[in-house]
Amino acid sequence: MSELQISLETMHAQDRDAVERLHARAFGPGRFSRTAFRIREQAGQAESLAFVARVGSLLVAAVQLTPIRIGTHPAFMLGPLTVDPPFEGKGIGGALIERCAIAARAVKRDLIILVGDEPYYKRFGYKRVPMGKISLPGPVDPMRVLALELEPGALANVSGELRGSA
Ligand SMILES: CC(C)(COP(=O)(O)OP(=O)(O)OC[C@H]1O[C@@H](n2cnc3c(N)ncnc32)[C@H](O)[C@@H]1OP(=O)(O)O)[C@@H](O)C(=O)NCCC(=O)NCCS
Repeated sequence: MSELQISLETMHAQDRDAVERLHARAFGPGRFSRTAFRIREQAGQAESLAFVARVGSLLVAAVQLTPIRIGTHPAFMLGPLTVDPPFEGKGIGGALIERCAIAARAVKRDLIILVGDEPYYKRFGYKRVPMGKISLPGPVDPMRVLALELEPGALANVSGELRGSA
């Protein structure tokens, strides 16, 4: 990370508006029709884990882990991950991704799924899910369905429909 004093914290209710602004800027109005958004809706009030990064008191980045099931297997979906553009390229996105892996391990999950750019996420251990192994509740580019195994071989044991787990 850079010389900036960056702190990672659990997201609180009062952060919601600032986080929503980050999402609106990064993904625009189309974000509500994305398959990942639908999965988060399915999860409803289920306890999600969410983290923000601050520089001083300024909220500059956010990420969420939504509880999901793949078939019957419990896991998490990571996203959205957004970093305020002036603070990109300083390792904040990476730090939040690592924070998510720690949080998922702490509650004994062995898999995190996301829909995103493999060239970015592969440096954090994410790899493409073999086509046809997991079906999502909406259109998605199969090349962008990625998984992080928190236990070796975790992905081999799961297949089926991915749903937000309410
Ligand atoms: C993608 C994003 C989260 C990266 O956050 P960040 O804090 O800048 O990331 P880091 O500092 O950890 O990593 C920066 C590195 O990732 C690279 N990178 C960023 N986005 C990338 C992408 N889509 N594909 C490949 N590499 C990418 C940068 O070029 C940089 O590379 P370098 O280390 O070789 O210089 C941020 O740019 C963002 O919020 N983008 C808009 C929303 C978005 O696309 N979210 C992810 C959904 S897939």
